[in-house]
Amino acid sequence: MTVFLNGKLLPAEQATVSVLDRGFIFGDGVYELVPVYSRVPFRLDEHLARLERSLAETKIRNPYSRAQWRDHIYRLIDAQPHEDQGVYFQVTRGVAKRDHAFPKAIAPTVFMMSNPLTNPPQAQVEKGAPAVSAADNRWLRCDIKSISLIGNCLLRQLSAEANAAETILFRDGKLTEASASNVFIVKRGVIQSPAKSNLILPGITYDVVVELARAGGMALEFRDVTEAEVRGADEVWVTSSSKEVLAIVELDGKRIGDGRPGPAFRRMYQLYQEFKQKVMRAGKREATTEAMRA
Ligand SMILES: Cc1ncc(COP(=O)(O)O)c(C=O)c1O
Repeated sequence: MTVFLNGKLLPAEQATVSVLDRGFIFGDGVYELVPVYSRVPFRLDEHLARLERSLAETKIRNPYSRAQWRDHIYRLIDAQPHEDQGVYFQVTRGVAKRDHAFPKAIAPTVFMMSNPLTNPPQAQVEKGAPAVSAADNRWLRCDIKSISLIGNCLLRQLSAEANAAETILFRDGKLTEASASNVFIVKRGVIQSPAKSNLILPGITYDVVVELARAGGMALEFRDVTEAEVRGADEVWVTSSSKEVLAIVELDGKRIGDGRPGPAFRRMYQLYQEFKQKVMRAGKREATTEAMRA
């Protein structure tokens, strides 16, 4: 596998990072994961904007301009054999003698790799997936896409051990998100999700779903969603760059709605696939719903 490290493309076995890197020592870094369909990155500008925000919030120097980021990412995509990829990139604060406080002059470490993209299998899309729930015990800056993911890993492991697709999280009796995705519910035809805040990651897929719902005339509300409302919802969906939109049909062993992906899900899934197809057909390496509609 060809990876990118600090400006160079090289075989993964030759890409090495110092043990003193603050990413290794403190988890002091931020990251992104961009889906790539037929070698066209999906919503790259939005991912880069979120990376820039994560870097600014963590006071890590951004080593590249937007144009340089794009160029490095395209080169990495072109160096892979797969058409559909998941491009992962992370920036850590860099290498320094261990000290919690930021070192003065330090060069950030940039690492990127691209793996074959794994979307949910068709059978899971059609049948839906089980999830479990847990208390959201992560820190209060879940809006930063930090590589310090031990909280998310511990929570995701709960669903992995239950053979479930996700762990849906509640904080103070209210829905936040899931261990690696955002969550929407549908009740009486209205799509509902928590508004963006410090308690959830501002998902790029969440934004696509919101845009597609609006463009498709589907009712949508941002509001606090209680745990009881999730359990009593007609439909529950999780969204992420790799899961796209996936119906959750069972929570903690109890059926959601009638235990099958609902009509709103099927419509949204269709809209999402159509939108993806348009992006791929356009074959351009930039895509916004606005540009695609034109
Ligand atoms: C905690 C969390 N929430 C939400 C998401 C979904 O974000 P996106 O749609 O940008 O992939 C992710 C994706 O990794 C995540 O880790």
